[in-house]
Amino acid sequence: MSERIAVCPGSFDPITKGHIDIILRAANMFDKIIVVVMTNINKSCFFTPEERKELILKTVSDAKNIEVDIYDGLLADYAKLKGACAIIKGLRAMSDFEYEFQMALTNKKLNPEVETLFLTTSAENMYLSSSMVKQIAAMNGDVSDFIPEVIHDDIIERLSFKK
Ligand code: PNS
Repeated sequence: MSERIAVCPGSFDPITKGHIDIILRAANMFDKIIVVVMTNINKSCFFTPEERKELILKTVSDAKNIEVDIYDGLLADYAKLKGACAIIKGLRAMSDFEYEFQMALTNKKLNPEVETLFLTTSAENMYLSSSMVKQIAAMNGDVSDFIPEVIHDDIIERLSFKK
């Protein structure tokens, strides 16, 4: 049987414990996961795509079936390019749902061969977002509960106001 590949797309600006939770759970369900750093036209990012990729790589280096990539194009095209059968998204609250539902339907229209699967976030990550992490770190707050330890210092170094 052919390898079952899923993509986990996002801005990851930066990756948080909430993202990691979804990625690792997805990695238990598929032969290969490709975490792909993409452009969200509604967001302006603080970290460059290469920096975001590097931060993700550091956090998933132990996982054998996870790759990390950057793609500046349509997710539906990327899934086709990689032969992926699924797109994995994390859902936090109902407020995420309408937008995610719209994207899932559009991606299905653009690439009928790919299914979007939603994983519910773990309860402790319900409120967590990259923009919260950036705000807290920029004001020298403690973000250690929200981001993996292995990238904590990199993020603090880039984000916090120099005292
Ligand atoms: O982490 P985000 O910002 O919620 O991720 C959104 C992202 C990057 C997955 C989404 O904006 C995306 O798929 N961008 C690639 C371009 C594309 O395919 N747009 C959607 C057409 S419906």
